[in-house]
Formats: sequence, structure tokens, C-alpha cells
Amino acid sequence: MSGRGLLVAVEGIDGAGKTTLARGIVKRIQDKGMLAHYTMEPTHNLIGELIRSLTREYRDPRIEALLYAADRLHHYLNEIKVKLDEGYIVVVDRYIYSSIAYQGALGAPIDWIRLLNKYVPKPHLAFYIDIPIDIALKRIKTSRSKPSFYEEPGILEKARRIYLDLVSQGELILLDGTKPPEIIINKALDIIENYLRRP
Ligand code: TYD
Repeated sequence: MSGRGLLVAVEGIDGAGKTTLARGIVKRIQDKGMLAHYTMEPTHNLIGELIRSLTREYRDPRIEALLYAADRLHHYLNEIKVKLDEGYIVVVDRYIYSSIAYQGALGAPIDWIRLLNKYVPKPHLAFYIDIPIDIALKRIKTSRSKPSFYEEPGILEKARRIYLDLVSQGELILLDGTKPPEIIINKALDIIENYLRRP
């Protein structure tokens, strides 16, 4: 990992509350007078917008995995790395693990997804906010007029299982997404602060 900053990823299925958590962490770090930067994937750059505009005929998990990996590498080189080099704590709302969970759930081989993403570094800390699928679907229904391509119970269930496997393998830190946002944010901040204090 290059640079002096810290890279923190926030992961979860749709409706888990990632964005609230990621933005909340950034705000609280900034309030302490430290440098923090929020960013998200898919990005709003050229490749990210291309992904958002894909029609059904391009909706093959392998094509998606390639595009998400390209969006991510561009994002890393042009934004994340720059901020890390400037000493920021960068909080990224979805990262490599979203490709493993979602494109993996849709049938792309996980080892191959990892290989595609080998040129972006793993985050120092990666949080996974877990919520049961029925709660996720209820939250999605009230927050969006049109569900996205992935917001389908079978896919979300598989993605959740892959995320939970990554928790058991020690790659992701589990947070309980059914708890109030303040509690989740406090827990994440404690973990980040402990990490920063490590010898
Ligand atoms: P999401 O964080 O829900 O963005 P928004 O709040 O703008 O809807 O991400 C959009 C979708 O992108 C989400 O359903 C998961 C999907 N996704 C993947 O399938 N693979 C990936 O690698 C990434 C980054 C996202």
C-alpha cells in the first residue's frame, strides 16, 4: 500500500445503510480535525457511468466484472491513491468486495474476479454491514421508485452469503446493520482509531 493515508471500505447489500455509515464516518473524522474523503463505486466517471447505462444484453456478470474492475483501477489511480498520498483517510462506499459478492452471486468465478482486481490494493480496513434480506427489501422499497438490476431477493441472498464467507475468512469486519446508525458509526470509528493507534 502506498501513501500515508488509510483506506477504509464499506460494504453491504443494497439497503444495508453503507452510504449513511461511510458519510457518517467521514464527517466524524473531519469533526476531529483530521483529513477524510468520501468516495463511491461505481464512480461517476466515464466507466462508472457506462456501467450504469448498460442494457440487458450487456448484463453478463463477466462483462460487468471487467467493467467494475476497470472503473475501480481508474478510481484508484486518479482519486484514491492521490488522496492517500496526501494523508487522507479515504472511505470508499463499495470496493473490490462488491464485485466478489455481486458478480460472484451472478456466476462469475471469484478467483478470476480477484485476479482482475489485483492492481488495486486491498483496503487497510473493510467493514461489512449485515442486514437480513427482508429488511433490505423493505428499505429499498421505501427509498427507491425503481429497484436496481441487483435488488432481487435471490441475488441479494447469494451476495449476502458471499459477504458472510468473507467475514469468516477475516477479510471483512462485521457490523450489525439493524442497529441505529449512530451505534454502527461509533463502532466503526473505534475500530479505525484502534487501527491508527497500533504500534
Ligand atoms: P450502490 O452502492 O447501491 O449505488 P446507488 O446508491 O447509487 O444505487 O451500487 C449500485 C449497484 O452496483 C449495487 O446494486 C451493487 C452494484 N455493484 C456491483 O454489482 N459490483 C461492483 O463491483 C460494484 C462497485 C457495485
